[in-house]
Amino acid sequence: MGGCTNICSSLSKYQFNSRSHMSTDMAADQRKEPGVVIKDGWAGYSLELFNCPEHYRGDLECVYIPHGVIMNRIECLARDILEDIGHHDLMVLCVLKGGYKFCSDLVESVKAQSCSANRRLTTRVEFIRFKSYLNDQSTEDMHIIGPDDLSMLKGKNVLIVEAIVDTGKTMRALLQHVETFQPKMVKVAGLLVKRVPHGAVELPDYVGFVIPNRFVVGYALDYNEYFRDLNHICVISETGKQKYKV
Ligand code: HPA
Ligand code: MG
Repeated sequence: MGGCTNICSSLSKYQFNSRSHMSTDMAADQRKEPGVVIKDGWAGYSLELFNCPEHYRGDLECVYIPHGVIMNRIECLARDILEDIGHHDLMVLCVLKGGYKFCSDLVESVKAQSCSANRRLTTRVEFIRFKSYLNDQSTEDMHIIGPDDLSMLKGKNVLIVEAIVDTGKTMRALLQHVETFQPKMVKVAGLLVKRVPHGAVELPDYVGFVIPNRFVVGYALDYNEYFRDLNHICVISETGKQKYKV
């Protein structure tokens, strides 16, 4: 992503610490870049420049991260994951619903890269769900809905896959929950990390993009269940917010 000078900046001015206690290997420690950092002033691309579903015309302000850029970034995350886990078997824990596209594309890319390197790697995906958002606001009551028994994680390399990390509450709760099943190793992949006030102090191990504090939709991220079927990550318009408000 060296060429995206218009939307990216260096990370040094952001306050995140890396989860270094989880990343003991050299490859992870040597990766200084925390992901593609999108500046606060990034206005996105005009909708006219991209192919967007007709049914959302007027409900979106701009294309914030085009689908092709997301896919390319995911290939890089998959490469980093393989570098760290060394082609060992992987238990993936997908955080629904927002994480389903990211998880699916990430796992496909891990498999494809492992296969083309002539390595054996099995992946298994389990699903877990949190519910905590109403309209574009986070609510206090957050609970895990998913398999009660995650004993299959014991002794395994576990990758938690989340579409978006803002306060880090979900990530922390899940890490605590997963640790009780005694995995061999736990890593977290977050497609988006949002710069919010009192945001996550610890970054996921694999970060796609660090974005400003704006409500985004698409690529399985929703606003009251709408926009998951949009391939690009976009910013919702005021009209869109009003139209799909509950
Ligand atoms: N979009 C959709 N879901 C979310 C967001 C967002 O920006 N932040 C937290 N959950
Ligand atoms: Mg949601």
